[in-house]
Amino acid sequence: MSGFPARFVDSRLRLARITRRALNHIFPDHWSFMLGEVALYSFVILVETGIFLAMFYKDSTVQVIYRGSYHALDGVKMSAAYRSMLHISFDVPAGLLIRQMHHWACDIFIGAIIAHQARIFFTGAYRKPRELNWIVGVTLLLLALANGYFGYSVGGDLLSGAGMRIGYAIMLSVPVIGPWLTFITFGGTVPVTATIPRFYALHIFVVPALISLLIGAHLWMIWWQLHTNYPGPKRTDKLIVGSRLWPSYTLKSLGLFFLLFAVVAMLGGLVQIDPVWVYGPYNPVAILPGAQPDWYLGWVEGAMRLFPGVNFRIGGYLVPELFWPGFFFPVMTFAVLYCWPFIEKLISLDFRPRNVLRWPYQQPFTTALGCAVAAMMVVLEFAGGDDVVALASHARLAAFRELLRVLVFVVPVLTGIVAYLVCVWWRRRRASDDAALRAGNEAVEELTLPQ
Ligand code: HEM
Repeated sequence: MSGFPARFVDSRLRLARITRRALNHIFPDHWSFMLGEVALYSFVILVETGIFLAMFYKDSTVQVIYRGSYHALDGVKMSAAYRSMLHISFDVPAGLLIRQMHHWACDIFIGAIIAHQARIFFTGAYRKPRELNWIVGVTLLLLALANGYFGYSVGGDLLSGAGMRIGYAIMLSVPVIGPWLTFITFGGTVPVTATIPRFYALHIFVVPALISLLIGAHLWMIWWQLHTNYPGPKRTDKLIVGSRLWPSYTLKSLGLFFLLFAVVAMLGGLVQIDPVWVYGPYNPVAILPGAQPDWYLGWVEGAMRLFPGVNFRIGGYLVPELFWPGFFFPVMTFAVLYCWPFIEKLISLDFRPRNVLRWPYQQPFTTALGCAVAAMMVVLEFAGGDDVVALASHARLAAFRELLRVLVFVVPVLTGIVAYLVCVWWRRRRASDDAALRAGNEAVEELTLPQ
């Protein structure tokens, strides 16, 4: 009888061969291939915790009087959305834990996507034939950022309301189509009752469904095209070295999932994040001292704080100062990201399929560019919280901001130059080792893929 159900199914569906081939699929062993999986598993945790929260959250701006366990806000008028956030935090069993896990999982999700993308960028994994997957990846990053924004906008607290107002102002600054864009997105002039239900539908249905679809497409392409490999013995553009899907890779990957879940649960239980009760309900004319967006939007906030207050007129249309740092800059950043594999192709004139990765030092220009952009983002993050930094360091805010306006250009240039020089020096040092590696590769090129 042993194996009867499997034989029964196989004699009808002929799945054994396909399954055997799938279980023998090779995955590289290098730790950096786990970054994509951290992103994947954080998304799973986001969905799980999000389903729990959806059972108690109310996407309504109807004004109510709070009568709950958080006495500091007893009798305060607020939206039903904000009241439900307080209810989840103080009255629903494990509600605060799950809310905090959801927020931590979001931060880890976006952090892992950025780290994963940096790995792809600095090792040249986006080269032919993986350009399409890079494009899907950039779209995933965009959707993840947008969903983070929608998520913290629906809280109905003072901080989320301020973020919503900033998003509204940025969209309104777009010449000609700004008012239409804001009407479609926010449902009127903020604050308006339509926005929270609209953002909520996007946050829990539309964007997660798109992310799930794109993750499916992303993983399907990886499976179909096979992984890349780091340079090393036996690795060629035709040969992949690593562990089989079953058992070693599956067990390793499951271990990673449980570890990540434990870390998120520990953070959710022990480290406070987004304490909405401290901020109070949304009030259109108020703002919190030291108000900050979540870190992954800090670069846009920083650009807005550093950009000088100049308004242009182009063809009779006013282009407000907010448009350049708040809209044009992020749009251009993503445009360059989308096009990067093709820009690099034009620079390097390398049109061949590449399955062996490059170490960062083997591509000094790309590495220098990536380091310069990362340095600029760090300065912009500081600028996004310049009031907090100035307060903590007893510096004058105006002087600190002027300094950052210089540093935002100087730091990336210096970082790029240093990164370039380090790569060139490293490449020279490794030249002899690389020659030995190439010799090793030639010796194994005739071997076929071990199954
Ligand atoms: C929700 C977000 C994402 C998830 C869940 C995800 C997941 C994964 C996983 C599990 C892998 C295989 C392991 C690895 O190579 O690290 C992978 C590979 C890959 N990802 Fe992503 N990824 C995401 C976002 C991105 C982004 C933002 C980019 C780039 C813009 C990107 C580009 C790629 C490429 C080109 C590969 C193939 C790399 C190779 O074979 O070396 N991904 N992704």
